[in-house]
Order: sequence, then structure tokens, then C-alpha cells
Amino acid sequence: MKGLILSGGKGTRLRPLTYTSAKQLVPVANKPVLFYAIESIVEAGITDIGIIVGDTKAEIRAAVGDGSRFGATVTYIEQSAPLGLAHAVMIAEDFLQDSPFVMYLGDNLIAGGIRGLVDEFRALGCQSEILLAEVENPEQFGVAELTADGKVRRLVEKPKEPQSNLALVGVYMFDHHIFESVRRIKPSGRGELEITDAIQDLIDRGLDVHPHIVRGWWKDTGKLDDMLEANRIILESFDSQSGAALGSIGEGSRIEGRVQVGEGVVLIDSLVRGPVVIGDGARIENAFVGPYTSIGERCRLACCEVENSIILADSEIRDIPMRIDGSLIGRNVKITKTDFKPKAYRFMLGDNSEVGIT
Ligand code: TTP
Repeated sequence: MKGLILSGGKGTRLRPLTYTSAKQLVPVANKPVLFYAIESIVEAGITDIGIIVGDTKAEIRAAVGDGSRFGATVTYIEQSAPLGLAHAVMIAEDFLQDSPFVMYLGDNLIAGGIRGLVDEFRALGCQSEILLAEVENPEQFGVAELTADGKVRRLVEKPKEPQSNLALVGVYMFDHHIFESVRRIKPSGRGELEITDAIQDLIDRGLDVHPHIVRGWWKDTGKLDDMLEANRIILESFDSQSGAALGSIGEGSRIEGRVQVGEGVVLIDSLVRGPVVIGDGARIENAFVGPYTSIGERCRLACCEVENSIILADSEIRDIPMRIDGSLIGRNVKITKTDFKPKAYRFMLGDNSEVGIT
């Protein structure tokens, strides 16, 4: 089998971060989301992986390289524009050829890996296997309706009146029949070739699409809240203080719970309460870092309190009287107190930034 990871797209829901950076490279517990996808495909025994890339191709290539660090061989497939998930399959045909494949959305995270699913697909010999999960807001997803005997009857993309609460999770398995289906469908109202329509075409042609209901957690990290939740879940799974000795825990500092401290980290007069990960070279002084926080490499925190947040590399937070919570802070961001007059908030924010002040 081969792997196909979709790492193009627009990422509009994660602006402004996605103006300058690929959403698949936003780190969860200090590791890019995309790396979790690559690792879980390799863990399932698949090492020949194609990655669909769009405008952020240079950045994705720089991060993933030829795949050898993951034990895989990576082929990059350029998509001229984000014309839909089924379009991505269409342009990957030369790479995939006759091989069955697993398609993985590069901004999705799935607990427990996909080895069992891949094995099940191989054993069943069906034309496609789709993953479904029960959700509370099915109108925001591709939704599957099943027949009484558990077969897929119909798939609808973001239905206004969902007929079930079973949403499509971002991992799909197909054999070569999908190529004919992606050629048969037409773009949807939003101008994309929808994978739901292509799978519906498989069903309409009488081919076997096997539904697998996922019981563990999964996350589409395309939005801020989901990104923070994924970060919480991954940090929660840390089971040791591994790495704690790498940094220097200076006098007056305390570490509580599961905390990973990178190389060269300096902690001065601070309290870090896990689960937390702190990237190499960060400096934390007179600060509180609370549960579910990921601090990127070389960040500088002083006289501030942060929890339940993701802070990307090289950012600085200094002298902030209120605790920072539920935040996603990009690279090289500065949040500091100024003594300029008049006494006022002072912002320089990119388009689509969000600031909440109490
Ligand atoms: P989405 O999150 O559905 O789309 P998007 O990235 O355009 O984001 P937004 O809705 O916030 O604008 O895409 C799921 C994954 O598939 C994501 O990793 C991007 C990727 N993708 C492609 O590679 N090509 C495409 O044509 C599309 C639509 C998505």
C-alpha cells in the first residue's frame, strides 16, 4: 500500500497564522501536526508516501525532506489550487498507480494510530474503507447515513439537516476504483471536487465501501479550539518527566507533574505545572506556566502567567499582569508592557488576528 497525505489547502480558519505558515506545520506538543500523520502511516507499515502540497510547498519540503528521518520515501505532488480532496486524489494517480492507498488529511490527528484500520482494509478486500465518528455538530462535517445492516447508504457534505451524527474522519482507504469516481463527479457549490461525492459514486456503482466507527478521539486541527484541544490530549498522554534534566532548573524554580524540558532551557524563579512541554533554548523567568501549555524553542517568558496555550518559537511575553489562557501565539511574536504615555493598549496585529481583553 501507499500513503497520500493532503497538506495543501487554504487554512482560512487558522488565519492569521496561515498567511505566513502552513497549518499542517503548526506544532501540537511542539511537533508539527503533519509529523503525527507521517509517523502513523509509517507505523502502519506504509513507507511510500505522496504529499499533496500547495502554496506552502517550500516550507513543507523543508520540514519533511525526503522522508528518510521518518523511515519513509516522500514524493511531493503539487496541486495548482485547493480544488478539493477528490481533486488531490485525481492528481496523485500517477504516483499511486494501481496500488491501494490510505489518504490522510495532514491537519488531522487520530488516537492509537491506523495500523488496525489498514490491516482491516487489507483483510476485507473492499474498494474503500471510511472512518466515522459520532459528533455533536454533524452539520459541520461530511456525514454518513448507514442502512439498518450497517452499510453506507449516503454521504452528504455539511448537510443543513443531518440524518445521522456520524461524521467522516480525515483518514480514508481506497483502491484504484476511486480514480474513475473522481473523474465522474462535478465540482460542488463551493467549487471543489468533494471526496464525499466520489465515495458516493463508488456506492452508486455498487462497490463495497466499508464504514469503520472510531471510538477513540480524533481531531481536525483546522480551528483554534480544536488545535488547543489536540494539544491538551497529546500533552495528557505524556507519561514521564523525560527530558527534565536537559535544561537548567535554577534556584527558586519548581516543576510539578509531567513536564518535558528541552535542551538549554533556563528556568528562574518560576513554577511549571504539567503537562507542559518547553522547547530547546527557552528562558522562563519569574513566570508561571500552567497545564496544557506548549512553549516553542527559544521563547522568552518573564513576569507572566500562561496556561492552556500554544506558543510558537522565538516569541517573547513580558510583564503581563493577567494570565494568558486558551491562546495560540505565532512565531516571533512580542507581547510586552510598555511605559509609553498615554496609558493605553498598543497593538500591531496582522489581518484576521484576534485579541480578547477583559
Ligand atoms: P480543509 O481543512 O478541509 O481545507 P483548508 O485547508 O482549505 O482549510 P480552511 O477550511 O480553514 O480554509 O482541508 C483538509 C486537509 O486537506 C488540509 O490538510 C488541507 C488539505 N487540502 C489539500 O491538500 N488540497 C485541497 O484541495 C483541500 C481542499 C485541502
